Amino acid sequence: MVLQVHEVMKRFNATLALDGCSLEVEQGEVIGLLGPNGAGKTTCIRCIIGLIPIDEGTITVFGMHQDGRNKEIRRKIGYVTQEITLYEDMSGKDNLAFFASLYGMGKDEIGARIPEVAAIIGLEGRLTDKVKHYSGGMKRRLNIGCALMHSPPLIIMDEPTVGIDPQSRSFILRSVKELAKRGSTIIYTSHYIEEVEAVASRIYIMDSGHIIAQGTLAQLVARIQGDHIIEVEVRLGSEEVKSRLLSLPDVKEVVLEGNRYRIAVPAGIPILDKILGAFAHVPLVSINTKQPNLEDVFLTLTGKQLRDEVKS
Ligand SMILES: Nc1ncnc2c1ncn2[C@@H]1O[C@H](COP(=O)(O)OP(=O)(O)OP(=O)(O)O)[C@@H](O)[C@H]1O
Ligand SMILES: [Mg+2]
Repeated sequence: MVLQVHEVMKRFNATLALDGCSLEVEQGEVIGLLGPNGAGKTTCIRCIIGLIPIDEGTITVFGMHQDGRNKEIRRKIGYVTQEITLYEDMSGKDNLAFFASLYGMGKDEIGARIPEVAAIIGLEGRLTDKVKHYSGGMKRRLNIGCALMHSPPLIIMDEPTVGIDPQSRSFILRSVKELAKRGSTIIYTSHYIEEVEAVASRIYIMDSGHIIAQGTLAQLVARIQGDHIIEVEVRLGSEEVKSRLLSLPDVKEVVLEGNRYRIAVPAGIPILDKILGAFAHVPLVSINTKQPNLEDVFLTLTGKQLRDEVKS
């Protein structure tokens, strides 16, 4: 077992950021940690690393108790921060060397490791350029590289693909898969369900400071299988129509996202006419029925969208 987080509570004044959070990670797993804004993902990660103290519960990393003072734990973890933390006026190479030196790596060791890390993050040709001349995607990749220099057996990535171009994004996803193939254990936090679907061997869904579901993609989808999702797009969504839908027998769940309703109904029940009835006099833009995917699991369990911003 690489990591055990047991019933952890963490308060920031009046905010209960972690509320009985528990999760376990085994050697070689790629864990996807999904949750809406403010769910407590970053707080959980910072507690695991020992950057902030917990109020209650226990955290064990590689069999060691996390009390915030154990430097050995810190050395075993590569932490890719949600906010990019790089020195803009230094070159990519100097950034890699600097972060490696924080882990006590010697000059020769650093020199030998830089080309390996540069290959993983695909920055071989640009290492001597100053970071301020990098694109957003290159900075993200370097941010990951800095966390890999000391060859940590556990890598924790907190939203490593925010605000980058699709090429860098797919490069990062490939790197995650490659690192996993080489035996690293990885915790990957993202707002992008399709990324988690692509890389994770197991998924934790977090909301309001605790884990509300976990399992493989297939297991999670199976939780709402037997359901069909009917998506109805209108010009203007309304809570009134939502309550009309919820009052129909057989409607299990309704999520209203902007102009789109996602309606979960048991498969095989002829209910479309009743649903359309609830939309009487509301002009419909489109209707679509489909099998549930991870996004539907998430919506059904949390009733929330994963991202604040409107989908493009
Ligand atoms: N240092 C802090 N001081 C006070 N409140 C905090 C602090 N850090 C986090 N919080 C609060 O704790 C809760 C959980 O925040 P956290 O950043 O862990 O969520 P998150 O899941 O990482 O969200 P996001 O997806 O937006 O990154 C939020 O309500 C947040 O405002
Ligand atoms: Mg966060």
